[in-house]
Amino acid sequence: MTEFPERLKELAAKTKGFMPEPEGLALFDHTLKVGKKVSGPIVEIGSYCGLSALYLGEAARILERPFITIDHHRGSEEMLPPSEFFDPELLDPSTGRFDSLATLRRTLELADLEDFVTVMVGESTLISGLVKAPIAALFIDGGHGSLATWNDFNYWSDKIDQDGLLMIHDVFSDLKDGGRPPFEIYTYAIHMGDFIEIAQVGSLRVLKRTPRL
Ligand SMILES: C[S@@+](CC[C@H](N)C(=O)[O-])C[C@H]1O[C@@H](n2cnc3c(N)ncnc32)[C@H](O)[C@@H]1O
Repeated sequence: MTEFPERLKELAAKTKGFMPEPEGLALFDHTLKVGKKVSGPIVEIGSYCGLSALYLGEAARILERPFITIDHHRGSEEMLPPSEFFDPELLDPSTGRFDSLATLRRTLELADLEDFVTVMVGESTLISGLVKAPIAALFIDGGHGSLATWNDFNYWSDKIDQDGLLMIHDVFSDLKDGGRPPFEIYTYAIHMGDFIEIAQVGSLRVLKRTPRL
């Protein structure tokens, strides 16, 4: 079994973000298991400062597969003031606007992953028109509101190749633990018969695309 490198674990511990280590390691392990018959790049929606991208980018580097990480870098509604998740260090002093792009670049540079990661800056729905199917794995961790979450599912999940992965973050079955939309797309994907669940780690759910009829 390939281990996630210690130097990246140390970097992850210092990187701003919302990815507990056990869930990050699950992203890494499951992405590494994507078989050669599954085609296309690995795609992440919601780069933020690059924490989850460390795990996915390292897996992509080992697999020699392209990895695309997508974000408009203006923050989700859940992370702008007055949210408890708002980080004033991410305000650009010259504009006063939220901007996580420079921090993402720095994370990828420190990780030596710049050559293996394609950073796409923009709205995930618009970028979906630029990334053709199939894709091998999709990690949804963008906006967590209803419209943003369902858009990410609806615009992207059909592109996942047979046996490819759909990984969803912040899936909470109990409303007291967190918002509902990621749980809704997770249950819908399984209920429709397009995906089966292969792992749960914390709030991360890992699903696999079933054969298309
Ligand atoms: C929860 S954070 C991602 C956390 C990150 N995956 C980590 O491991 O720390 C969500 C990110 O999604 C981005 N985002 C929200 N809605 C988006 C959209 N419609 N298109 C592109 N990016 C979006 C936000 O700017 C924010 O950086």
